[in-house]
Amino acid sequence: MNTRQNAEQSPQGAGNGAENEAANGAAEGAIAVGERFVVDVGPVAHGGHCVARHEGQVVFVRHTLPGEQVRAEVTEIGPGGRFLRADAIEVLRAAPERIPAPCPWSGPGRCGGCDWQHVDLAGQRALKKDVILEQFSRLTRLDLTAHLGRELEVEAVQGDQDGLGWRTRVEFAVDEGGRPGLRRHRSHDIVPVDTCLIADPRVLDTGVLSTTHPGSTAVDVVAPSVGEPVVVEVPHGPVPVVRERVILADRELELEVSSRGFWQVHPGAARTFVSTVLDWLDPRPGDQVLDLYAGVGVFAAAFAEVVGDRGSVEAVEGDRVATEHARDNLAAFPEVKVTRDRVDRAVRRMVRSKRRADLVVLDPPRTGAGRQVCRDVAGLGPRTIGYVACDPAALARDVGYLIEHGYALRDVRAFDAFPMTHHMELVAVLDAP
Ligand SMILES: C[S@@+](CC[C@H](N)C(=O)[O-])C[C@H]1O[C@@H](n2cnc3c(N)ncnc32)[C@H](O)[C@@H]1O
Repeated sequence: MNTRQNAEQSPQGAGNGAENEAANGAAEGAIAVGERFVVDVGPVAHGGHCVARHEGQVVFVRHTLPGEQVRAEVTEIGPGGRFLRADAIEVLRAAPERIPAPCPWSGPGRCGGCDWQHVDLAGQRALKKDVILEQFSRLTRLDLTAHLGRELEVEAVQGDQDGLGWRTRVEFAVDEGGRPGLRRHRSHDIVPVDTCLIADPRVLDTGVLSTTHPGSTAVDVVAPSVGEPVVVEVPHGPVPVVRERVILADRELELEVSSRGFWQVHPGAARTFVSTVLDWLDPRPGDQVLDLYAGVGVFAAAFAEVVGDRGSVEAVEGDRVATEHARDNLAAFPEVKVTRDRVDRAVRRMVRSKRRADLVVLDPPRTGAGRQVCRDVAGLGPRTIGYVACDPAALARDVGYLIEHGYALRDVRAFDAFPMTHHMELVAVLDAP
């Protein structure tokens, strides 16, 4: 199995080569959870931890930074003892980009929501850049810096100030006593937090953290861009529909979306990605456009006005509720069709019926589109493909598939849509041969 196939099974596991090395690691049972040792910390890996070695064994260490020396405590032994997971519990030599964490709930054994509260924003973005370059190098065999002819910058999304107060949708876990909190890293344990610094203040202003939620297993709070925040008691409470506004250079879109459905959580994210894709794909009147993994249809809406009634947009989405909202959101555009189906089945059918597309937008979930969808998208012959991705490993792998089918990677932008965490969003554009 080659590296790219490995990534398709588990993009999360596509670290910086250390996992492969870890497979040949030390014998099982040599070390126990809770054991402590001092390590020199190496590069960042996909997933927010850094790679270190202890007596020849690979250790994935959280709460640290490349170049640091830390005392690490083992938190988990990987399958077959192939690698260890550990937390840095004491910093013996600090990296220059280390800062005191603004959030009192972050740190070893505490809330698992943020990975990088202990890193300044520039440092977080540098780590994200390193992960992206590593994934493209490993999975696409592409030196992205050389390919782009510039240093990739992980950019702030529009409106981001200090990386705090941005999260407009937060799911708090609720314990058996009805107390809300956030989960510990890789655990079902609930840490009963009294604040969350990355949450939009309007989320906290609902009082969600100062009230109990008897009978709920979780409580979702959504602070939409239009109207008041809503609190959803999971699983039995009503699930209201909210409205989200996307401000583009020349117009505004307003869409309905379920309070439990997919919507970008950073308030500047949707407009940043839609503007980037529109700019790069440069739609023309009469174009046939496909919006794959369409959600409630934000990309379809943005393209519809441009292609006009001589063109067409088909939005393909698998989720029933999202599809219903997409139909409502796009009802004003007769040239838009919303199809509820799995994308792999829909594009297969299109290829079989010898359909063509001029432009394709792909915005898949974390696992990416995968080999077959990439092959079939290429088979539709679009002149340009825009790919929006939240996982650099899945994107790198799928860009590789599209390159195999003759497409050329024109550009990539990376956005810090999830500050304080290791997560990011990327947009890539590929052109037909
Ligand atoms: C990352 S979201 C993007 C949604 C939308 N483009 C947006 O920006 O709001 C991915 C969407 O793909 C849908 N999805 C996931 N797997 C799918 C599949 N195999 N076929 C069709 N839709 C799928 C999800 O329901 C979700 O709405």
